[in-house]
Amino acid sequence: MTEGVGLPLWLLAELTYRCPLQCPYCSNPLDYAQHKHELTTQEWFDVFDQARQMGAVQLGFSGGEPLVRQDLEQLVAHAHQQGFYTNLITSGMGLTEQRIAGLKQAGLDHIQVSFQASDAVVNDALAGSKHAFEQKYQMCRLIKQYDYPMVLNFVIHRHNIDQIEQIIELCLELNADTVELAICQFYGWAFLNRQGLLPTQEQLIRAERITNQYREKLKAQNHPCKLIFVVPDYYEERPKACMNGWGKIFFTVAPDGMALPCHAARQLPIAFPNVREHSLSKIWYESTGFNHFRGDAWMPESCRSCPDKARDFGGCRCQAYMLTGDAANADPVCGKSAYHPLIEQARAESELDSTLEKLVFRNSRNSKQFTVQQNIPVQNITDE
Ligand code: FES
Repeated sequence: MTEGVGLPLWLLAELTYRCPLQCPYCSNPLDYAQHKHELTTQEWFDVFDQARQMGAVQLGFSGGEPLVRQDLEQLVAHAHQQGFYTNLITSGMGLTEQRIAGLKQAGLDHIQVSFQASDAVVNDALAGSKHAFEQKYQMCRLIKQYDYPMVLNFVIHRHNIDQIEQIIELCLELNADTVELAICQFYGWAFLNRQGLLPTQEQLIRAERITNQYREKLKAQNHPCKLIFVVPDYYEERPKACMNGWGKIFFTVAPDGMALPCHAARQLPIAFPNVREHSLSKIWYESTGFNHFRGDAWMPESCRSCPDKARDFGGCRCQAYMLTGDAANADPVCGKSAYHPLIEQARAESELDSTLEKLVFRNSRNSKQFTVQQNIPVQNITDE
């Protein structure tokens, strides 16, 4: 199938699953610890060259923590030479002034730093790492000194949502160009910890109201900082157009070379191809994995005849899989889905008590346990 297939404009290079932090909402797979054979520098160069030839223009370096890779500066330099607009998506851990300068010299265009909270105590507890807040704070100062456009990203959940004013104030103090207040999306470790992370509706309404008040204030001051508030699917009645549609513009390459239409697809019972074995062009246009949810032939009837399918492309396949066990089912977020009561149940559970101590942290020890416990479905859709 090549007719009507768009270009992979956005390449996400997940350089590694290694990370010094342990966030309980990490979107990496639960069994990440078993995927160890990272692509080499040369293999990544080859991926970038092929993607660029196919029309990719944006390249995000993420992980895990991409700074763990000591060849990051080389990778950025190569991507820059190929003409990519490059973005580093980092926790700030492992960053130094020397590396900030080295990345600048390599041609890095943009940096996104994630924080866990607006104060050191909550931040470091959520990150599972002492001094994480101080490190991030100092690095943000340096990033701006080196004149990078900087996005500060806060994953918002029930343990930090009530600090929303302090979070915005911190971002303004650090001269963020853009602030992403992204209410937790439930993939990977976040799905495992959903009951302890999903904010209540009341918390959400308050946080959105305060963000809107700040937006008004900043606008009145002609302040350049942009506030983005991302509402969680779990409080919507219509599904999001996840990844702007399956296999439409996003191409993700996992640390071991597995090619995915989205960062969460690895968990699906689909045998996704590997860039070590196939060209990116063959993967994008011909692989079963990338073609599987393109178009609407895969949709159940209620979705196929829905007038909104051109807007939401049927919602999120990974969410349908995690909540119903079948990725082809209607996204339960949709109010018309027979599975929508699962979302309503999750909302009701957000009212139950939860403490930080109850969260399962993302680390190799826990991941190895999941690898043993998880009866990962045998690949029942094969790639030719
Ligand atoms: Fe995979 Fe939505 S996250 S399709």
